[in-house]
Amino acid sequence: MDSFLIKGGVPLHGEVNISGSKNAALPIMAATLLTDEPCVIRRVPDLSDTRFMVKILESLGAQVKFENGTLTVRAKKIKGYADYELVRKMRGSICIAGPLLARLQKARISLPGGCIIGARPINLHLKGFEALGVKIKIEGGYIDATVKKLIGSSMFLGGRAGPTVLGTANVMMAATLADGITVIESAACEPEVVDLANFLNAMGAQISGAGSPTVTIVGVEKLHGVEHEVIPDRIETATFMVAAGATDGEVTIKGGRAEHLRAVIDKLSEAGVAVERRGADMVVRRKGKLKPVDIATLPYSGFPTDAQAQMMALLVLAPGISIITERIFESRFMHVSELARLGAEIEIEGPSAIVKGGKPLSGAPVMASDLRASAALVIAGLSAKGSTQVNRIYHLDRGYERMDLKLKKLGARIQRVQEK
Ligand code: EPZ
Repeated sequence: MDSFLIKGGVPLHGEVNISGSKNAALPIMAATLLTDEPCVIRRVPDLSDTRFMVKILESLGAQVKFENGTLTVRAKKIKGYADYELVRKMRGSICIAGPLLARLQKARISLPGGCIIGARPINLHLKGFEALGVKIKIEGGYIDATVKKLIGSSMFLGGRAGPTVLGTANVMMAATLADGITVIESAACEPEVVDLANFLNAMGAQISGAGSPTVTIVGVEKLHGVEHEVIPDRIETATFMVAAGATDGEVTIKGGRAEHLRAVIDKLSEAGVAVERRGADMVVRRKGKLKPVDIATLPYSGFPTDAQAQMMALLVLAPGISIITERIFESRFMHVSELARLGAEIEIEGPSAIVKGGKPLSGAPVMASDLRASAALVIAGLSAKGSTQVNRIYHLDRGYERMDLKLKKLGARIQRVQEK
């Protein structure tokens, strides 16, 4: 397994180009199953998660070409079940269920596993499908979903932690070809859901209200092929903004969208890291001393849970007490014990992490555990004195396109070490 070897203490300087959004690309790739015509999707990030989704589409019978960030998919003839092992390994693949139900009136997919950040149930996905008339059977680790004809209806998709992003995406995709009108209450408002709705409307769907808690889908007969460019990755953008602040550098972010990051920019500014708009670019650098801040992760447009770990890697440097409360997932503090190896002082009290910041970090070997925790460890290694080896970097490769090369271009001393 690869790892990153980082020699910290170098302020990052220069420009970084933001890749397309992983969390927009995955449901949009699934949506290509809704038509037998070719779809062309640009700015698809080259990640292990997107390459996984390519394998899943191919295992369903679609023809897929993926080169230089452009994906061409033609799902001319497809089957209703995906390879058990493939689906089980990547949670995001649950969003093929909606398109398969709309196209074939059946879907047989493995129950997506939970992961280290939480149980990741899919009860709300299934609630939405059942509201559209789908019969669900769960047996032997598989979900067997069948329906004579999808019938539009109204439903409330809010759960224990508010809306569900992929649940909204799944039901929205199924409803595009249902008979009649579907209204999703407590829909997720994330920009990735809006990007998917734009993709579906370009295919001929009739969706309104995407980005608001109430989404209305008027079913149509058929959807056609389309060309689309994926929105920039707001979490990659947040990650590089935090890295600029943590290393006391100055980084120009190119190709990001400030309007997707208002909560992150607000908290960074409170913590003493300024994000200045220069045309379409954003220039990030510290403004005075770092200050402690309190953060609670919330559904969009609140502070994103996917930027929580990275923010913690900044706040361990801010003298004083910061309180970070994780309201979306049950156990998204796996980075805490690894940050402690670098000298961070953090105590966990239930859903909150109490960060006693201000002590400089010193490098040590650390273990990545999930995608965003690994980003936090890289940021901490960049600001720590001495060397930090971040092991199991495959977690990071799931969601960041060539992060080591992008950081090297910003002056970081970082090497990818291939394990023999
Ligand atoms: C998406 O996951 C993202 N993944 C996650 O990003 C992100 O953290 C999450 O949304 C929240 O913003 C992709 O888009 C591929 P949810 P998703 O359903 O849709 C509970 C990353 O790092 N819930 O919005 O699976 C669930 O347990 C990843 O890029 C139910 O209770 O998340 C959680 O507490 C990590 N029942 C909350 O809702 C359900 O049926 C939000 O989950 C579904 C979810």
